[in-house]
Amino acid sequence: MTETAVCPVLHERDHPLQPPVGFPEAVGDGPVKMLWPNGVEAWIVSSYAGVRQVLSDARFSTRKGGQPEMRTDEGETVLDPDQPGNINGIDGAEHMRLRRPLSRGFMVKRMNELRPRIQQIVDEHLDVMEAKGAPADLVTSLCLPLPSLVIAELLGVPPEHQELFQATAGDLFGKNGSKDEYLAHATKLAEVLAPIVAEKKAAGTNDDMIGLMANDTDFSMDELIFLCIGLLAAGHETTSNFLGLFTLHLFEKPDQLEILRRDPSRADVMVEELMRYTVGQLGGAGLTRRATEDVEVDGVLIKAGDWVSVSLIANLDEELCPRAEELDLERDAVSHLGFGFGPHQCLGANLARAELQIGLRSLFERFPNLRPAVPVTEMDYRDDMITYGAAEIPVVW
Ligand code: HEM
Repeated sequence: MTETAVCPVLHERDHPLQPPVGFPEAVGDGPVKMLWPNGVEAWIVSSYAGVRQVLSDARFSTRKGGQPEMRTDEGETVLDPDQPGNINGIDGAEHMRLRRPLSRGFMVKRMNELRPRIQQIVDEHLDVMEAKGAPADLVTSLCLPLPSLVIAELLGVPPEHQELFQATAGDLFGKNGSKDEYLAHATKLAEVLAPIVAEKKAAGTNDDMIGLMANDTDFSMDELIFLCIGLLAAGHETTSNFLGLFTLHLFEKPDQLEILRRDPSRADVMVEELMRYTVGQLGGAGLTRRATEDVEVDGVLIKAGDWVSVSLIANLDEELCPRAEELDLERDAVSHLGFGFGPHQCLGANLARAELQIGLRSLFERFPNLRPAVPVTEMDYRDDMITYGAAEIPVVW
């Protein structure tokens, strides 16, 4: 076993769209030991094969895993692993009991049925942006409201709670929030959600996600509420940041933007390449697991009890595709790791894909001359432990 104990500063980037300074060199191809920002020692696995192995091998547990260990200075978990409904923090049959019914709500067929509504939301927001005129902030005009409205509708949350959800979702994923702050935000959401869940339970309806969970499963009330909070939070922040980052990458690579402008009908495949590349360029120490037995990964012995972070910089591994370090919108879709892999692979991937495909295509069809109003390198970026994205994207057309 190596004795390396480097701790590259994960949040220092020379360029906002490139990996943290020194990170690719420090992680190399193989598992290396590093310190998380809270001082906990962990293996960083960064090869395509290694990441797939860790994320799909049951000997790597997600229990007590997840980002929170990395967020706190004390090394304690923000999120209690025994919190009912903590789908990303449990393994095996316990995990599948929660996951299986939820997957039904996110099936491709269901997401395809949602497409016309997603298109309508996108069109309405682009209408408003156009009517107000340039310059506009793309984040508040489209990136943030789109996923926020869609997830709330999918869950069946009444529109009057939109603003609270949008604000609280940001707080839940906020930078280094203390355990108390986190719980306060979650409690605020839980108070609003409890009566909505109770009402749907009483009505016996299953035509939205909350109804489906309340009436077609054996989930307890605590599980239901926490799952709703998780879905609302996951549904807001990630997709919103990625729609912004995709646009910024295209602004920085005019030849690639030209490919999208030339053939927007391939937007679906292009979104896969943008996802692969963007997630890879984010670098960072991604998703956490803990070994329950000794396991060899990429020729290195990881001992039972060791922490492991997988880095999705693995999306830039040549093993995945040739010239993996390049964004190439003419490439066919490849099996990237942008939505994770294995039993915890993103539940909302089909939803995120539909939103990103429709959002990106419509944006550049409506505004063929869309360009940044200030250089991409001078924009403000929100760099939390969990999410990364531009705080504002001023654009003109
Ligand atoms: C571009 C957008 C998104 C990205 C990049 C993304 C990424 C990910 C990744 C990498 C994981 C795996 C976590 C792990 O292995 O520990 C994950 C899990 C998850 N995602 Fe997403 N996600 C996105 C959008 C969404 C949306 C829209 C939703 C829901 C509405 C969602 C819900 C979830 C849930 C519930 C899990 C946990 C699944 C489990 O543990 O079984 N995600 N996501």
